[in-house]
Amino acid sequence: MPSVARRSHQPTANGNDKSSNANRNRRQNIAQQKKSLPIASVEKRLIEEVRKNDILIIVGETGSGKTTQIPQFLFDAGFCREGKVVGITQPRRVAAVTVAKRVADECGVDLGQKVGYSVRFDDSTSNSTRIKYMTDGLLLREALLDPYLSKYSVIIVDEAHERTVHTDVLMGLLKNVQLARSNSTSDGRHLNNGDKNVNGFMSLDKDNGQNGNFLKKDHRDKSSPLKLIIMSASLDARTFSEYFGGAKAVHIQGRQFPVDIFYTRHAETDYLDAALITIFQVHLGEAPGDILVFLTGQEEIEAVERLINERLTKIPEGSRKLLVVPIFAALPSEQQMRAFAPAPSEFRKVILATNIAETSVTIPGIKYVIDPGLVKARSYDPGKGMESLIVVPTSKSQALQRSGRAGREGPGKCFRLYPENEFEKLEDSTMPEIKRCNLSNVILQLKALGVDDILGFDFIEKPSRAAIIKSLEQLFLLGALTDDCQLSDPVGRQMARLPLDPVYSKALILASQFNCLEEMLITVAMLSVESIFYTPRDKYEEARTATKCFGSPEGDHITLINVYRAANDLLEKRTMEMNKMKSEKVLRKWCKENFINSRSLRHARDIHRQIKGHAEQMGLSLASCGDDMLQFRRCLVASFFLNAAVKQPDGTYRALASGQVVQIHPSSVLFRKKPECIIFNELIQTNNKYVRNLTRVDYLWLTELAPQFYAMQN
Ligand code: CDP
Ligand code: MG
Repeated sequence: MPSVARRSHQPTANGNDKSSNANRNRRQNIAQQKKSLPIASVEKRLIEEVRKNDILIIVGETGSGKTTQIPQFLFDAGFCREGKVVGITQPRRVAAVTVAKRVADECGVDLGQKVGYSVRFDDSTSNSTRIKYMTDGLLLREALLDPYLSKYSVIIVDEAHERTVHTDVLMGLLKNVQLARSNSTSDGRHLNNGDKNVNGFMSLDKDNGQNGNFLKKDHRDKSSPLKLIIMSASLDARTFSEYFGGAKAVHIQGRQFPVDIFYTRHAETDYLDAALITIFQVHLGEAPGDILVFLTGQEEIEAVERLINERLTKIPEGSRKLLVVPIFAALPSEQQMRAFAPAPSEFRKVILATNIAETSVTIPGIKYVIDPGLVKARSYDPGKGMESLIVVPTSKSQALQRSGRAGREGPGKCFRLYPENEFEKLEDSTMPEIKRCNLSNVILQLKALGVDDILGFDFIEKPSRAAIIKSLEQLFLLGALTDDCQLSDPVGRQMARLPLDPVYSKALILASQFNCLEEMLITVAMLSVESIFYTPRDKYEEARTATKCFGSPEGDHITLINVYRAANDLLEKRTMEMNKMKSEKVLRKWCKENFINSRSLRHARDIHRQIKGHAEQMGLSLASCGDDMLQFRRCLVASFFLNAAVKQPDGTYRALASGQVVQIHPSSVLFRKKPECIIFNELIQTNNKYVRNLTRVDYLWLTELAPQFYAMQN
């Protein structure tokens, strides 16, 4: 086991004595917890298996200690000697961040030193980082700069059962990297496949060689093979094992207490209301223990959070000890950590989570699970080339994972908010994301890695030919690919460098030509977060009035820019007199008064800072179009032309690229104005198809600014 080093500090006053005592207790507690994890007893055997097998599949019940402990075992066993790093990928940023914090804590080190994390728009690592948690998408990006991932001795693909599109692509990539590293000869050349390596990977870093073929300049030696570990919570080890040529799979015995499952008698018409009622029934009627509620997204979580707090004021004072803690991907990380902290004594914690709490993060103390049985999922229609987010029923295996959360520390209860016969109708498992998403992002990355033959890539599960072709076509229309399907230079290369969806990357590149990069950076940042505005049901009118001052008659994009700038002005005006803490507070207050979601705004400001940095690095010109918003709107057309729609006589809209009939979402500033032609950024599918985040444009601009698509159509 790793030594539990304590941070050195010298107590000088009583207060410090106390805090060092508290610290010692905490450390002892952590050491105790670590020892009691099911995985602790198999450390030696696991390490042996890793030494014996270059690819190992580890399957273990959620909460058995895989994510937090195995990297520490590897560190202690010497896998980080000579500056090597153990990398662990997670499908979700929340998991990468919270787990890294936990492990840094367990090791008694500051985050970002020995233990760190790196996720898009947020990096907490340093040269001394040896255990690095990151998102699967981030590791894919790292491969662009270091195709052999040479600093890693071990890469752990965690939560592989989630089968995110990045995890799937990453597995294909790692398979080849591993082969390349074990086959590379001492002069750095590869034995397979003539002068290209097995993938035909090329480095994006052009300094590396004439055509970027990284093999020529890379000097690795045979002595550093890459170990791969694939970890998964569900019992579906066979798919992975087969994919990796019969790789060895080991199971870690978990500890699971019985969980009583309850169903509703009838289908619920309003599952949020049903969830709310169930939360209070548990709170008022059941033994102590925290509650975990699965909801579909930030908006829903925040709505339920407000409703609970409202309802709490209406029950007897003695029963109000219920602490609501949200956890979802876009939550700032300090706030995410609140879900893991124990509630104050006598309080019951109710955690409102997206499906991140299904397997990605283990929150201690849960005894009750409330599961409406829904999840927000990506869905892609290759025929129409449209991706949308829809709320769909979970699969059976998801429902089981969710109920399992209640039985980690003792017997528990799970309330499924649907009738029992509905459970039987659920799909057994969730379809891998790669089969239901727009692939242009990953294809762009694969192309940038030098993988020419996308259809022939060794996917663990192949996406449909139609989806691949549609995405190639989109990349071509965006100018990222040439006629013969090669990455274009510089546009395609620049696009691959930006950590954004290809259409957004293209928008930034174009904006620098339209002299409105400043506006586009804000737009992309604001579009990257969920719901900037919030409109509580009971304060609908008040909220409308408050946000009116930001509204632009041209549409939502400029409205979002106005909000961003108003917040900026506010902070700039006062920075002189304020420290950081104070400015946070001022911003929160301002947000509250203006019905702006301060969490989302903060997140957007963060993203803005990062993408601005990327844009500067790429040498894009950071101009503003000032008051000439016409320029900006034209740039929106040039960038998002695939999302144009025109009004039909009945007031609905027809999306030009897909032919779908859509409506303007009521939250849009153009909801009543209904302009003739719009550009939109988001399609949501409920009973109707709604478009959100839109701007009024001139129909004629389409052929003028996107002739590659509209001239062809005509
Ligand atoms: O990966 P796996 O689901 O097997 O377990 P893990 O994430 O390594 O979690 C092991 C234990 O560490 C959990 O049971 C939690 O009690 C604890 N943990 C925690 O307290 N705080 C975190 N941020 C992460 C884990
Ligand atoms: Mg885990």
